[in-house]
Amino acid sequence: MDSSRRNFIRSIPALAALPASWTAFSSALRAAPAPDANNEAYWSLVKRQFPLDENLIYLNAANVCPASRPVLDRYAEFLRDFQSNPSFQNRAKYDGLRERLRSKIGALLRVSADEIAITRNTSESNSIIVQGLDLKAGDEVVSNDQNHASNDDSWKVRARREGFVVKTLPVRVPVASRDELISQIERAITPRTKVIAITHVSSFAGMMFPAREIAELGRRRGIWVHLDGAQSFGGLDVNLKDIGCDSYSASTHKWLMGPLEAGILFVRSERVAQVWPSVVTVGWSDQIRGARKLEVYGQRDDPRLVAVESAVDFLTLIGVDRVEARMRMLSGYMKDRLAQIPSIRMKTNREPELSAGVIKFEIAGVPLQRAYDTLWERNRIAIAMTTAGDSKGLRFSPHIYNSREEIDRAVAAVKALAS
Ligand SMILES: Cc1ncc(COP(=O)(O)O)c(C=O)c1O
Repeated sequence: MDSSRRNFIRSIPALAALPASWTAFSSALRAAPAPDANNEAYWSLVKRQFPLDENLIYLNAANVCPASRPVLDRYAEFLRDFQSNPSFQNRAKYDGLRERLRSKIGALLRVSADEIAITRNTSESNSIIVQGLDLKAGDEVVSNDQNHASNDDSWKVRARREGFVVKTLPVRVPVASRDELISQIERAITPRTKVIAITHVSSFAGMMFPAREIAELGRRRGIWVHLDGAQSFGGLDVNLKDIGCDSYSASTHKWLMGPLEAGILFVRSERVAQVWPSVVTVGWSDQIRGARKLEVYGQRDDPRLVAVESAVDFLTLIGVDRVEARMRMLSGYMKDRLAQIPSIRMKTNREPELSAGVIKFEIAGVPLQRAYDTLWERNRIAIAMTTAGDSKGLRFSPHIYNSREEIDRAVAAVKALAS
């Protein structure tokens, strides 16, 4: 283990001693074989940290990821401590913990702590941007049909009240190239465009948008670029400084493998004054620094902050670059194997620069609901599906708690359905 990782372990917060699962995991990692993406021995050590049912093949990271035992144990420890002594005095420690969490998220995303708000999920983070920007009748928002409802319908609901225009662009599935995605948006921009709202990795067809190039389109024209990162945060090594978007949203219960009902919102420091808070309650003031003014909701679930911090620690202990490499290896391997089945109609691009962890496909001649039900009932494979539109199909999304052998079993189950 290198010295930065060793120092990092020392920085993990504890009430008294670290839970046994943390010390066991960190010392096992120290003795572990090389962590490259293809080393099943290394990744089986990681897999063992997750209390997943052994009879289940869980391939639905794009929806909810399990949290690892070290994260759950630390969460439980702080929850018990909170409930055993909810006094202001015992809760005072959370002010410091919240700021430390903000710094760790900022470091993970290569932005400053002041630019991070801790919210309740991606939907809420998207909504803060949708509701918080000044827009008037005649203004235009450019969206697309790969955006989640919270980054498309939400704009339209507000537009109905205020008379601005939302252009939802139809994206080709699978898309021909990165240039096609960039030029489609560029063509939709007019002098009235105030916002470009996109998704980093779509949960529908799984395509990865060229976020940096699209952010650049916006920056040159003073247009706000909002990036929904629900399917990239924690799964990809995201560098927001490099991407250069104005805002980025995510949940902690997806690829970060953290607790439910927590999320983050990044707003670029030069831009934060332009966002009106959606909720104002006791504790809010004009003097609050940076994105913190967007997270004043009244009493919060403080121990959950420690669960989010633990999830960031868990990811950092392994290395987010290694997590991305392993996740991409598993999804690439699955796409390659599926491509050998003649009746598979792949919706997700295979190029790494146009895809990440989400895999979507249909099996020609097999009704979708039957495929979905059979995979669950016969093989205990947990996935998701989209029932209509261009992105219709079965959705598989593997993560670091999956093994290559599970992918083989899932592909064999799909092949049995297809024949
Ligand atoms: C791209 C995208 N945005 C937003 C969301 C909403 O996430 P949450 O339900 O955690 O708010 C999802 C959920 O799957 C998503 O895939």
